[in-house]
Amino acid sequence: MRRALPRRALAAALAGLAAPAMAQPAEGGLARLAAARGVLFGTAVNAQWLREDPDLVRTVLAECGLVVPGLELKWEGCRPGPDSFDFRRADEVVAFAAANRLALRGHTLVWHEALPRWFPASPSAAELRTLLARHVATLGRRYAGRLRSWDVVNEPVEPWDRRPDGLRDSVFLRALGPGYVAEALKMAAEADPAARLVVNDYALELPLPQHEARRRAILELLNRLVRQGAPVHALGIQAHVAAGEAPIDPEVLRRFIRAVASLGLEVEVTELDVGCRLLPADIPARDAAVARTYAELLGAVLAEPAVKLVCCWGLSDRDSWLNTTRFTRRPDGLPVRAHPYDEAWRPKPAREAIARALAAAPVRA
Ligand code: G3I
Repeated sequence: MRRALPRRALAAALAGLAAPAMAQPAEGGLARLAAARGVLFGTAVNAQWLREDPDLVRTVLAECGLVVPGLELKWEGCRPGPDSFDFRRADEVVAFAAANRLALRGHTLVWHEALPRWFPASPSAAELRTLLARHVATLGRRYAGRLRSWDVVNEPVEPWDRRPDGLRDSVFLRALGPGYVAEALKMAAEADPAARLVVNDYALELPLPQHEARRRAILELLNRLVRQGAPVHALGIQAHVAAGEAPIDPEVLRRFIRAVASLGLEVEVTELDVGCRLLPADIPARDAAVARTYAELLGAVLAEPAVKLVCCWGLSDRDSWLNTTRFTRRPDGLPVRAHPYDEAWRPKPAREAIARALAAAPVRA
């Protein structure tokens, strides 16, 4: 005879039917799998998502040991005027992390994008140094001791700008000279001596000439910083990769990570996602190709013990930034399927690939 389900179990089962998005990961979540290997796993979030999307909150709590505010700590996100700061939205994310015992990354103190409208187009050195020093001191001190790592300088290299040092020809470089990276790191170390200070950049992952040039430029920059005694602790590899483009070459990527590690630095994978703009529309095939790329990328980076943190740039296809730029959106107008969960918060093969890669990673000290 079949036993009747207790009322609570029935309600839970029905709720499950109505919302398949709540699938509970059997192995206790990606963060647990990662932690067993000495790796911290998490995602970017923003204050609006935390406020408006209960599925996002549930999934972040089930899967993540770390969050990073994707928008709120950028100049545009917290500095409405040269003399004013607004930390209300950043504080929402920080409070969420504290309430749920999640680690935090800070993103980002110096970036040539996401600058507010009032930001001067061609500041003098003195003007920008004053603005920057106040910015780094204010943000650094406000969250001091609460951030595992700070992306102090984001995207500092651009070999296409044709400078001999490979640095990007940004407003910060033009005003302050190439020493601005070390200057910003020193300001950050003073404001928050506990945080790991990170130089973060993209297009470092693939066996392509432009990625090779960027790897060379960032290694030269890190080398100079270490030689000067600048307080830099890690390289952030953004890892916005794409399926159907150049395949990952594990040896190229691992050799690069070892070169960074040989400078005494850690490596954080800071903004992982896998675009699919070049793949055919068919969803199962696309999901399989995206999952394969997650597996290849993570298989390579996690084999290197210098990598102790992996952060996705969003868990779900629902709010993917990849649909918002012409370089990353699909030419056929279909939404991308670049993240471990789909737009209805159902786990995809990519989530399984991440779980497998974390489970297979060697244990870190
Ligand atoms: O929230 C407003 C919304 O209220 C408004 O209706 C809408 C209209 O444009 O804009 C919304 O804000 C946008 C925000 O994303 C949220 O979607 C901003 O305009 C837009 O500039 C912002 O873009 C972010 C971008 O950085 C600039 O801050 C992306 O979400 C974010 O994914 C992207 O992240 C960067 C990393 O910081 C650095 N590495 C590359 C990565 C991807 O570009």
